[in-house]
Formats: sequence, structure tokens, C-alpha cells
Amino acid sequence: MFNQILCIMMMISLHYCRTKEEWKNRTIYQLLTDRYASTKSNSTSCNLGNYCGGNFKGIEKNLDYIKNLGFDAIWISPIVQNYDGAYHGYAAKNIYQINEHFGTAQDLKDLVNACHQKDIWVMIDIVANHMGNQDLDFSRNYPFNSSSHFHDLCEISDTDFATHNLVNIERCRLFMLADLNQDNSYVANELINWIKWVVSEFNIDGIRIDTAMMVKGEFWKKFTEATGIYSIGEVFDGDMGFLKQFIGPMDGLLNYPLFFTLRDVFLHWGDMYRIESFYYNQLQTYGKNNIPYMAQFNDNHDNARFLSDEVNGVSASALKILQFKAFTAFTLTSIGVPIMYYGSEQLFTGGGDPKNREIMWNSFNENSDTYKFIKKINQARKAVNAGAQEQVQRYADNDFYAFTRGQLFAAFTSKYDRDVIRKITYHPYADGTKLCNVLFTGDCVLVQNGSFQVYLRNGEVKIFLPENIVVEME
Ligand SMILES: *[C@@H]1O[C@H](CO)[C@@H](O)[C@H](O)[C@H]1NC(C)=O
Ligand SMILES: *[C@@H]1O[C@H](CO)[C@@H](O)[C@H](O)[C@H]1NC(C)=O
Ligand SMILES: *[C@@H]1O[C@H](CO)[C@@H](O)[C@H](O)[C@H]1NC(C)=O
Ligand SMILES: *[C@@H]1O[C@H](CO)[C@@H](O)[C@H](O)[C@H]1NC(C)=O
Repeated sequence: MFNQILCIMMMISLHYCRTKEEWKNRTIYQLLTDRYASTKSNSTSCNLGNYCGGNFKGIEKNLDYIKNLGFDAIWISPIVQNYDGAYHGYAAKNIYQINEHFGTAQDLKDLVNACHQKDIWVMIDIVANHMGNQDLDFSRNYPFNSSSHFHDLCEISDTDFATHNLVNIERCRLFMLADLNQDNSYVANELINWIKWVVSEFNIDGIRIDTAMMVKGEFWKKFTEATGIYSIGEVFDGDMGFLKQFIGPMDGLLNYPLFFTLRDVFLHWGDMYRIESFYYNQLQTYGKNNIPYMAQFNDNHDNARFLSDEVNGVSASALKILQFKAFTAFTLTSIGVPIMYYGSEQLFTGGGDPKNREIMWNSFNENSDTYKFIKKINQARKAVNAGAQEQVQRYADNDFYAFTRGQLFAAFTSKYDRDVIRKITYHPYADGTKLCNVLFTGDCVLVQNGSFQVYLRNGEVKIFLPENIVVEME
């Protein structure tokens, strides 16, 4: 309610206000600004532990690649000036300066403008838990240059994370980064003024909140309300009961519990009933009204990529690619705001940080098989505005899972060495409807006597739409 009033008030000064409601039918392409595209460097290799040369101008020049892939939002790295070598942006030095490696403030404005002209929204990664100094010399930070702005020195331990010891998680340091004390009213007010400035100065559409579990929810509530735009929090944890407390302070969270479940099911030929159980538990834990704003993802910069040999011991084998495509298709069609990590469409195989943060600029191939696969799914999603529809489970058993989002029917299997055939009797289609698989031209089934058959061959995914819509898409 407060958000809506604020949004209306802000609309007078801004042209619009991107609330969670408006984000429901967007799909987000996550990229790292230093790695996506560059106007400074043509290098084909780089030390991934330092700056590689990606910048705002580079992104701006390569927006069509993202647009053609079917995404209508990007999530970019933190934008502010960082300590030396912090190419990722999570070690801020001056939160009112733009990271000079990425370009100028004007370059950022130009990028956002160019995005908006292509109907691509911009989500910025926000760090308000810590500053970038790892010592006790706060004087180089702006505007938090005094020890009184920070918590006393201690480091969050693995046990603190494992036991959800929020007292320590909130007051101690992550990687020894100077931990801001948001109970200090100067710090809290300054951070809130800063985020308002970022959103209005750069015309931002959404924020992704880093290290969300490490700051009190009551602070985040004020912080996110001050922006009036959609916020996704990062709580890197698989426990829904723990995540729940951050919904409200933030509109949605990176859906780590779903990530862990799906990754396991698709990688390990798992029981697909687990997906049904997952959704049941999620509904019980968060409540129906919160679920559309959670954000599911297929990979990210904090985890070894699905296709790396650090996951499951094998690199991108044909089988693993099949599994990854199923997982990615599930991410893009299921309820929540989908996020796809850059390079997925080119089957990147990087392992743990920083190996999963590859240079993109030699890989803009719009004809790759996976690029086309993802593009088709995004097109199908858009053609029937699936992102704004409820998700209804249509079938679940050990080997098969299917749901609809409005007119879109999606079917998956985790059994890759056999044909899985199911008769669907619970569905929204009238007899005589011809359903066609958007991923394979000419693969259509007829709804007859209230049912139709879905035939998944060797681990394939099918996305059905009524034929007339598929024809219009082509
Ligand atoms: C990159 O290569 C292209 C084509 O060879 C060249 O025109 C351009 O100037 C190069 N850019 C940089 C920053 O070196
Ligand atoms: C901190 O910043 C303020 C405002 O910019 C400045 O007046 C003050 O001298 C700085 N303090 C330190 C310790 O650098
Ligand atoms: C997104 O949904 C809104 C209604 O919820 C609709 O007005 C808009 O056209 C949709 N956008 C797309 C791209 O489908
Ligand atoms: C549909 O039902 C009718 C009447 O029950 C039956 O005659 C017909 O064979 C059925 N068709 C199919 C394809 O099952």
C-alpha cells in the first residue's frame, strides 16, 4: 500500500515506476559488466581475477543480442567506484562515484536510455551491507569514513551461516569487508538517500540486493520502500523457513531453494515428485501472494556453472547439455521472475568463482543451438503473456512433470535414456485444439475426447502452444 502511494508520488517526477507487478512478465539476463562486452579491449583471454575491460558502452552496443534472445531486462554489476581489482563491484569505495573502469555517469545514463528504447529494463546490483576496505582504515571510504559507521571487528564463521546465527551474520564481516552498522542513523539515512539518488539519477527499473541476510529486515524495509521499484534479495540459503523473513522487506528473493531442488533433480535423474513437494512447501511457507515475485535462476556468478566439471564431476557432455536445457527451460517458464546467467546460451562451462565469470565478447553467436532454444522459449512465454498467469500443475510422477501458464503447456522429464509418454486429461484446452511444440517444428498433438498425449523422447523438453499462436510466432 505504502509502496503504491510512493509510486504514484514518484510517477510525477519519474515517467513510470517499475513495481513488482510490472516485473511479473519480464525475463532477466544477468551479466557482469566487466565481462559482457567492451569498447576498450579485443583480448580473447584475461586474468579473470582482475578487470578484463567490459564497460557500459560495450553493453549498449550489444543490446540486440539480448533482445533477440528474448530477454526484456538485464541485471548488471554494482555500478559504484570500487577498491583496486574489484572488477565484480562488491567492494565499494565511494558510493557516489561511478566505477571508472565501466565508464562515466553519462555512459550509464546512455545505457539505460538505450535499454528503455528497446523496452529492456535495467536492474542494478546493490551493496549496502559493507564497504570494500578489509582493514580498519575507513578514511578512504566515502561517505562512510569513520569507525563509528561500522560494526566492531569480527568475521562471520561457517558455523554462523550453518546455524543461521543472525546476531553474528548481521554484525560481523563477510570476507573481512568493513561491515556497515545500519543501526547508526547517519548510516541508515545516508544509504536510503543514496538509493533514492541512484534510482532517480539513473532511471533504474529494479534492484538486486546483495548479501541481504546480513542486514536487518527492518532496515531493508525502509530501504526498498524508498525506491518504489521491484527488489530481489540475495539470501544464499536453501531453507525456505529461513528465507521467509526477508520477504516483505524485499519483494522477492533469489529462489535458492528451487535452484538446489531443480539442479539436483535434473542432474541426478531425480524423482520429479520432488518438484510437486517443493511447490507445496513453498506455498505453505511464503503464501500464494508472494510467489510470483520470487526470482528463479539457472546459474549465477556465485556458483560453478551447471556445465562445469565441478558440478557432478563431468563437463558439458551431451547428456549434461540435455539436463541443462531442461533446467533452463523450467527456469524460464515457471512461476516467478526468471533470471538466466549470461553465457548459458553459449554453453559456458566455467567452474567456481572466478572461472564462472568468463569473457562474453567473443561469443555473440545468435545461431547457436542453445541460443535458438532459449529464444523460442522466451517468444512462447511472451506470445501468451505466460509470465502474468498462474502456474497450474497438470501432471506429476517420478519421471514426468507438467504445468500450464495460461495457454502455455510445459513438460519435462529427468529420465534421459528413454521415451516418457503420458496422457494428459487435466488441462485447459477444448477438444479439437491442435497443440504444437515451439521447440520442434511440426511436432503437434490434437486434443481429443478431453485428452492429449505428450511424448518426451530421450530427455527432451516440450513447450506446447495452440497452433494458431505458434503460426503467428513464426
Ligand atoms: C578491435 O578490433 C577491431 C577489428 O580488428 C578494431 O577495429 C578495433 O579498433 C579494436 N578495438 C580495440 C579497442 O582494440
Ligand atoms: C569524513 O568525511 C567528512 C565529510 O566528507 C569529512 O569532513 C571528514 O574530515 C572525514 N573524516 C575522515 C576521518 O577522513
Ligand atoms: C505484461 O502484463 C501486463 C498485464 O499484467 C500487460 O499489460 C503487458 O502487455 C504484458 N507484457 C507483455 C510483454 O506481455
Ligand atoms: C472419442 O470418444 C468417442 C465416443 O466415446 C469414441 O467413439 C471415439 O473413438 C473416441 N476417440 C478417441 C480418439 O479416443
